Amino acid sequence: MAIPVVLDVDTGVDDACALLLAALHPGLDLRAVTCVGGNAPVDDVVANTLTVLDAAGRADVVVARGAERPLLEEAVDARHVHGADGMGDLDWPKSSRQPDPRHAVEVLRDVLREAAATDEPVTLIPLAPLTNIALLLRTYPEVARGLREVVFMGGAADVGNATASAEFNVFHDPEAAAVVLDACADLGIAVTMYGLDVFYAPHIGLAQADALVAVGGRGAAELAGRLVRFQAERFGAGSATIGDAGAVCAVLDPGGVQREKLPVRVELAGTWSRGRTIVDRRDWTGDLSHDPHGLAPTTIDVCLEVDADRYARLWLDTVGGGSL
Ligand code: BDR
Ligand code: CA
Repeated sequence: MAIPVVLDVDTGVDDACALLLAALHPGLDLRAVTCVGGNAPVDDVVANTLTVLDAAGRADVVVARGAERPLLEEAVDARHVHGADGMGDLDWPKSSRQPDPRHAVEVLRDVLREAAATDEPVTLIPLAPLTNIALLLRTYPEVARGLREVVFMGGAADVGNATASAEFNVFHDPEAAAVVLDACADLGIAVTMYGLDVFYAPHIGLAQADALVAVGGRGAAELAGRLVRFQAERFGAGSATIGDAGAVCAVLDPGGVQREKLPVRVELAGTWSRGRTIVDRRDWTGDLSHDPHGLAPTTIDVCLEVDADRYARLWLDTVGGGSL
């Protein structure tokens, strides 16, 4: 049976790559997509998301508009990375569809309540700042009954990207990330962090991107190829990561990543480290009584290694329709 999933996105070039995979892979049952401000302002995120789903022939998927800004901070987008429209300035025809009239948090609530009622728990895949998810879990904690697990892109055990120490999604709304980890621990929801330690590894080369573009017809393959080409050109590289799509791969093919259960905290203060996920990788032969912070109360699965070729191939086979 296909795995029921919901994506929460800030589309976003690599969110678009993730959406194409989730929309097209027969192993996933994409129940809804919720949008949040992040890489681009939320209205651009909604427009981009509808456009991607149209290209994938999935105009049936509910799309909802969510939080415009982080819980505490002003929104700071990443259009310097993702283009002025947030999705590579591809000059791709816009969708004529409108989002669902409900707020993203209400759509998440309704989908998860339905999942609980039908005993078909959903895997939630947040690929963006965690604002919508924090609001959801604090407002409607009973939706935990409809959740199988949360697999999110964000954070890192090692390096950052938005700053030297923090990854963009967590940095953008650290309070939301902290709330989500706390709520998941409280509600008994399993969490996997697909962070920067694995995020950049699955790559698509320019020759493969060109082959996707050559499929043409303004469909999923052509869009996928153009997205990869945009990213590669932006960074002056011969290839580009599938980015957020790797987290979708981790749901489809869990054996492709190595996870370790580790205590994780989100740094909410810090002079240079706000938004960092502090992943505790010490071995516990030591003496905890001399650590004033103690162990983080939240233990989650952290992805530390990925079979990059396997995930790149999974993505390519799906978005290319098996033609490459
Ligand atoms: C994350 O931030 C965004 O730029 C990407 O879409 C991804 O979700 C990587 O830090
Ligand atoms: Ca994203």
